[in-house]
Amino acid sequence: MTSIRLSRIPYRRFKTMRQLIMVLLSISSFLLLINLPQKPQTIIKRSRRNLTIWSNDFHISTIQDVKYQLQSFNVVLIDNSLSNHCSLTKTCAEKLKVLNKQNGISPTIKERQEFYEAYKNDPVMNQVDAFICFHPTAMCEVFMPFNRPLIIIASTRYEMGRFSREEWTKWNKNFRLIALNPRNIIAANNLYDAEYIRYFTGIKPIILPSLCDYTKVSYSPKPGRSFLIATIFKQQFRSEFIFNLTHSIQRLNSTLTVDYLRSLYKDHYDYSDIAGHPGMIYVPYQVSLMSLFEQYRMNIPLFFPSIDLLTEWHYIYRVIDQRTWDDVNSQPSNTSIIPGVLGVEVPDPNNEFDRKAIRYWLQFSDFYQWPYITYFNSTDDLVEKLMHANLDEISQSMKIYNVKLKERLYEQWEDILRRVDAN
Ligand SMILES: *[C@@H]1O[C@H](CO)[C@@H](O)[C@H](O)[C@H]1NC(C)=O
Ligand SMILES: *[C@@H]1O[C@H](CO)[C@@H](O)[C@H](O)[C@H]1NC(C)=O
Ligand SMILES: *[C@@H]1O[C@H](CO)[C@@H](O)[C@H](O)[C@H]1NC(C)=O
Ligand SMILES: *[C@@H]1O[C@H](CO)[C@@H](O)[C@H](O)[C@H]1NC(C)=O
Ligand SMILES: *[C@@H]1O[C@H](CO)[C@@H](O)[C@H](O)[C@H]1NC(C)=O
Repeated sequence: MTSIRLSRIPYRRFKTMRQLIMVLLSISSFLLLINLPQKPQTIIKRSRRNLTIWSNDFHISTIQDVKYQLQSFNVVLIDNSLSNHCSLTKTCAEKLKVLNKQNGISPTIKERQEFYEAYKNDPVMNQVDAFICFHPTAMCEVFMPFNRPLIIIASTRYEMGRFSREEWTKWNKNFRLIALNPRNIIAANNLYDAEYIRYFTGIKPIILPSLCDYTKVSYSPKPGRSFLIATIFKQQFRSEFIFNLTHSIQRLNSTLTVDYLRSLYKDHYDYSDIAGHPGMIYVPYQVSLMSLFEQYRMNIPLFFPSIDLLTEWHYIYRVIDQRTWDDVNSQPSNTSIIPGVLGVEVPDPNNEFDRKAIRYWLQFSDFYQWPYITYFNSTDDLVEKLMHANLDEISQSMKIYNVKLKERLYEQWEDILRRVDAN
C-alpha cells in the first residue's frame, strides 16, 4: 500500500519568487509517493536497444510516473531529483555536480557551462541516450550542449524559472531551436500547457498525459463514507463554499455527507482511503494536477463547477490561485510580460482581470477536457447531482476510457523511444 503525505503550502510566507517556487514545486501535487513502485507487468515487444534517460527535476511525482511507465520499455531512468521531497522517493541527487536545489531552477549561463564541462567526459553521462525535462521544462537549456535527444514535457506553465522578459525571450529562442530538431520531443501532460506554449512560441506540443499507474488502486466505495472536498487554498472562499454546501444539503433534506479532505485525513492518507469514498468535489486551485490524474485513473467519480461558474468564482475570488505565476506570486496581472504570437483574437492567458480571457483559457483545463466528469452550477445543483448521479456507471465509463488511454499512451512512448534510438 502506498503512503501519502499532505503538505501545506504556506506560500504567503515566502518573500522571493525563488523561495516560493522551491516549496510549490515539490508539492503542487500534495500527493507524495513514499514507496518506490514495483515493476509493471506489461513488457512491450521492441526491436531497439535498451535506453538510458537522464533527469534532474524539481518534482518527484511527474518523473516517478514516467519512470514507472518506462520500465515496461526497458528504459533506465537516471533520476537525480532536486525536489525538496526527494527523500520520499529515495531519488535525491546526492552526487550531482554544479546544479543543486538552490541554483537548479534558474542556473546562470556560467553554471550551465560548468555543468557541461563537468559532465562532457563523465562515464555515466556518456551512457545517456536522451534527457527528459518536466519541472522546470527549461532545465533542457542546460542539456542542449550535450547534443543528444531532449524530451520536454510541460506539466505547468513553461516559463517557470525564466520569469524576466529577457530570460523568457531567450528560453523561447532555445525552445524553438529544440523544436526544430526532429529528434527532440516537445510535449505537455495537459492541453492547457500545450496551448499556453503555442500561444507564446507558435509550437504545438503533443499531449502525453500522466498515467499514475503506480497507485494500483481502483474505486471501491465503502458504505457510510462521505463525499470528499479536495483542497481549496483560498480560505475565505473555502469556508463560504462549505457553508453553502452544508445549507444546500439541509435545504434539500439530503442524507449525504461531505468532508474536507485535509480535515478528514490531516497530513496522511493511503490511495485506498480516498478510493473508498463515493466521489470527490473540486473547486480546483490549478488547471492540471497530478493528484487529479491519480484520482481519475483510480476511476473515482469527480464533481467540478461548470466553466461559467468557475470563471465567475475565479474572477471574484481568484480560486484557481496557481493558474498564472503572477497569481502564485500574489501579483495577478492583466497582461503577460512578453507578447504572444497567435494574434489578438486569442486572449492573453495571463490576464486575470477579464472574464472572457479567463473563460477562454479555462476550457483547456483537464477537467473540461476529460469525459465523465459531472459539472454543477450552484451548491444546490451539486447536491442534486451528488444524490442522483449513477456513480458506478460513471466509474465504469472512466475505467474503460483509462484502459484505452493507456494503450494509446504506450504507443506514443514506443514511437518516442524509436526516435531516440534512431539518434
Ligand atoms: C535490457 O533490459 C532488460 C531488462 O532490464 C535486460 O534483461 C536485458 O538484458 C537488457 N538488454 C541489453 C542488451 O542490455
Ligand atoms: C454562497 O451563497 C450566497 C447566497 O446564496 C451566494 O451569494 C454566494 O455566491 C455563495 N458562495 C459560494 C462560494 O458558493
Ligand atoms: C424538507 O423537509 C421539510 C420538513 O419535512 C419539508 O417541509 C420540505 O418541503 C422538504 N424539502 C424538500 C426540498 O424536500
Ligand atoms: C491593464 O491595466 C492597465 C492599467 O490599469 C491598463 O492601462 C491596460 O489597458 C490594461 N490592459 C488590458 C489588456 O486590459
Ligand atoms: C444549472 O444546472 C441545472 C441542473 O443541471 C440546469 O437545470 C440549469 O439549466 C443549469 N443552469 C445554468 C445557468 O447552466
